[in-house]
Amino acid sequence: MTEIFASAPGKFVILGEHAVVYGKPAIALAINRRFHLSVKRDDDFKINNEIVDIRSSPHLRYISSNNDMLPVSVHMDSKIPTGSGLGSSAALSVAFSAAMRALNGKSLDESEIAKEAFEAEYFTQGRGSPMDTSASVHGHGIALNVQNDAADTLWNITKNEHSWDVSRIDVPAMTFVIGYTGTRAATGPLVEKVRKYKDGNRFASDIVDEIGQITLEGMEALKANDVVRLGDLMTKDHKLLSILGVSTNELNKLVNASLPYSYGAKLTGSGGGGSMVVLTDRPEQVCEVMRSHGGFPFVVKTGVEGVKVSSIN
Ligand code: PMV
Repeated sequence: MTEIFASAPGKFVILGEHAVVYGKPAIALAINRRFHLSVKRDDDFKINNEIVDIRSSPHLRYISSNNDMLPVSVHMDSKIPTGSGLGSSAALSVAFSAAMRALNGKSLDESEIAKEAFEAEYFTQGRGSPMDTSASVHGHGIALNVQNDAADTLWNITKNEHSWDVSRIDVPAMTFVIGYTGTRAATGPLVEKVRKYKDGNRFASDIVDEIGQITLEGMEALKANDVVRLGDLMTKDHKLLSILGVSTNELNKLVNASLPYSYGAKLTGSGGGGSMVVLTDRPEQVCEVMRSHGGFPFVVKTGVEGVKVSSIN
């Protein structure tokens, strides 16, 4: 019986979170931590050999119903920590979409997988941008909302009144340390907090514009493989995000502790807890200093492949 194997990477946001909600650019980089799964036909829906009610897993249910809704047995093994802002749920949706499409003989075109996985995430969360799912499908790096050469444009995704242009960017192999604070804050209220601040305040709206500008400069730094400039822009971005009110004492503590051993550091994702990221060539020292400040560090590499699919009969 045919068994399909698929894997997809996690991601982090290097520049542009929150501002991306208002149409500004953002950059997400895929990391060398992947979600692996396999699917094969079975008499019941099973996850890791346990019979499950597919309705209790909205991602799987959405993707199954978009394919054939016939039961499958799924084996999952993820190396992406959950609940830490690293796109673990998006990587699950991407890998499952690719595997189910392969099982049903459908197109494995990256843009089709990106759209299906985004819809599955949207169905699950009721909100969100296609940043995580697109980064996981394409790997390497993706930028949202940038003017780019046609050759670099990957796909456009629209949902309700929103439309996102997703472009590819070349990403050198770099080392980052992710620092998880140990607490997770829901994205929705943080996005709402920034929206309220920005709506009533010209200063906050200028900060959002400045984050957009920094992100465009970051694209240039990435292209030039200029880690010094990129790190400096990350640290600036962290300060701007702090002014917008989405950093916390824990995040600031981990950023400040890491700076002497790094090119730059910032919170990543929605903030309010979650994770921060450090660009460094001294990952061991950064990990040590983070641990001594209460963080949970792990080293990640960029410049990795996106979704991969294979099958055995
Ligand atoms: O929840 P995360 O870590 O994937 O990041 C959310 C990023 C925001 O810009 C704050 C929201 C969004 O949907 O883009």
